[in-house]
Amino acid sequence: MTGSTTASTPRLRVGIVGCGNISRNHLEAFTSLGNVDVIGVCDVDITRAQATATSWNLTHAVDSVDALLALGLDIVSVCTPHPTHEEVVLAAAAAGVNVLCEKPIAVDVASAERMANACAAAGVKLGVLFQRRFWPAARALREAIDDGTLGAPVMGQVSVLLHREPEYYSADAWRGTWANDGGGVLMTQAIHYIDLLQWYMGPVSEVYGAINTFKHAAHIEVEDSASAVLKFTSGAIATLIASTAANPALGVQIRITGTTGATAELSEFPEGSDGRITIMAAGDTVTSTPAHPAGALANVGLANINAALIPHHREQIAEFVHAVTHSHDPAVTGEDATNALRILLAIYKSARTGEPVRFAPFPTNVPTAPDAVVARLDSITPVA
Ligand SMILES: NC(=O)c1ccc[n+]([C@@H]2O[C@H](COP(=O)([O-])OP(=O)(O)OC[C@H]3O[C@@H](n4cnc5c(N)ncnc54)[C@H](O)[C@@H]3O)[C@@H](O)[C@H]2O)c1
Repeated sequence: MTGSTTASTPRLRVGIVGCGNISRNHLEAFTSLGNVDVIGVCDVDITRAQATATSWNLTHAVDSVDALLALGLDIVSVCTPHPTHEEVVLAAAAAGVNVLCEKPIAVDVASAERMANACAAAGVKLGVLFQRRFWPAARALREAIDDGTLGAPVMGQVSVLLHREPEYYSADAWRGTWANDGGGVLMTQAIHYIDLLQWYMGPVSEVYGAINTFKHAAHIEVEDSASAVLKFTSGAIATLIASTAANPALGVQIRITGTTGATAELSEFPEGSDGRITIMAAGDTVTSTPAHPAGALANVGLANINAALIPHHREQIAEFVHAVTHSHDPAVTGEDATNALRILLAIYKSARTGEPVRFAPFPTNVPTAPDAVVARLDSITPVA
């Protein structure tokens, strides 16, 4: 099926692959739309698929993607662990079915590119879930760039200080492993905010990063904490810290300062709650919209975080359905998702080699230092 609707076929047929935690958000979103029928669900664990079909009153529960695609679909939602995304997306593309894939698109860039190429060749849409782009506050920050309030972004600061209990990692065998999670806090949590940073500040030219595991070393092999310096092809600069070892969680703050000197802060506290925006421009009174929830608990359980994200999944999923029915690119494309993945993989690479990873030249506006200053800098000798 091509996924385009006509007067005779106004309703889209949707299937969902993977019946774990996040599938509820997809089911809530798709079933709330007027022009969509969720036809069936698929999970390699058939009992999960059957339980989900029963709860949502769906006709079909199957244990293979091929069996789901054989039902005749317009859209497949991919809610499986990271390294399995490719096989599902490629199967959907081969069947001519549009695909909405959970983040991260993949755990390596070559895989992400194969997915995007297969969908492009098949003429189907590929969208990737970065539902935080749909917060009104996230959009307001983007507007503050576009309408000149901030001017061009020149400095960014991202702080992702989250809390996870050991049970978060032990609940599912794939979590916390290089093979099946593909990474730790960068791959699973910070990727949302890396995506926002590139959406606001444009293409990254260079990355220098460090990772470590401070709290969860006994039960994960990936990092629970990371930091990075990012340079952008525009000449802008930014820093990132991210961790699941914070207690209490401090949520997420993204600050963007522009050429006007004004700064916008996007804040998510507690994790999973709506984004809030504060714009600080010279002469203005500082106000946050909406206000932070009074008395919010800092450490929030995964089920509550995912439930709080439902409205934003709904927004992005509605937009994807619109992209399918009106033949335009979705708001978050496979290319956007691949770019976010490339940035975080560069942090891992830099952490491993101790060297920056450069994608493109970085324009600087710093006058050449006089010889005496260069000599002062040369006197700082790195330890071998
Ligand atoms: N957008 C967000 O904010 C958000 C939040 C949570 C999770 N996610 C993403 O959603 C995806 C799933 O996460 P989750 O927490 O729901 O995982 P989960 O482990 O709870 O569920 C995954 C399900 O997929 C099934 N599965 C595994 N391989 C399969 C295959 N090849 N075919 C069919 N079913 C298969 C498993 O049996 C399991 O039921 C991940 O990519 C994750 O990063 C995104």
